[in-house]
Amino acid sequence: MNGEDKAAGGGMPLSALCMANEAEELAVLPQPLQQLRAQARTVRDPTAADGTLAVLLRLARELPARRVLEIGTGEGCTALALLLACPQLSLVTVEADAERHAAACAHFTRFGVSGRVNALFGDAAEVLNGLQGPFDLIFLDGPKAQYVHWLPRLKGLLRIGGVLAADDVLLYGWVDGSVPVPYKRRSIAARLREYLAAAEADEELETLVLRVGEGLAVSRKRQAELK
Ligand SMILES: C[S@@+](CC[C@H](N)C(=O)[O-])C[C@H]1O[C@@H](n2cnc3c(N)ncnc32)[C@H](O)[C@@H]1O
Repeated sequence: MNGEDKAAGGGMPLSALCMANEAEELAVLPQPLQQLRAQARTVRDPTAADGTLAVLLRLARELPARRVLEIGTGEGCTALALLLACPQLSLVTVEADAERHAAACAHFTRFGVSGRVNALFGDAAEVLNGLQGPFDLIFLDGPKAQYVHWLPRLKGLLRIGGVLAADDVLLYGWVDGSVPVPYKRRSIAARLREYLAAAEADEELETLVLRVGEGLAVSRKRQAELK
């Protein structure tokens, strides 16, 4: 993994592309969305951490991202932040939980962005097969055990120079061994280790793991080398 490599399709080193000022990035979000994000933190699957969202907002602006895919809509907080901060952007987002999907759709309408978002209800495992790329930015924030299985498909949906950002890849320190893994969580930690190993070993991807939130793996798609 070398974050200083310059990948075709993106002029900036990946480490610089990810260097976000959290306070500045989040300052553009309207107060009602800040309140919605604070409320979302009280439910079981909360929205992306502030540091994670700041990196996503910077990536969306700098790439620049016109088409974004999100796996795991939740109640739509991160999707809303991206749509409101980046007027050029349209977004496809997938959610398997009916209540959350409905709540997200209501929020998209309330914030006046429903015309720029395609909110799909279903299991991403199935929905992914029917999606058409290319996407500039993909935010992978669904079931952690599936990340490694979905990596080839997500890479295929990404444009050259586009970025796949996978959330929670360090999960409470369980993945890098800094915190002992509870017995019942060994499998999910193992799958996330496999995801990181696969992303880092993939020659078509340049990957950095950022210590924001519970860990964000940022992988940029390289131009395939001519033989
Ligand atoms: C952490 S939450 C998403 C938060 C959202 N991305 C945000 O930052 O505001 C993860 C979501 O993934 C959804 N999810 C879980 N398994 C899924 C699947 N197989 N397909 C689609 N969504 C799934 C959960 O219902 C949950 O709402």
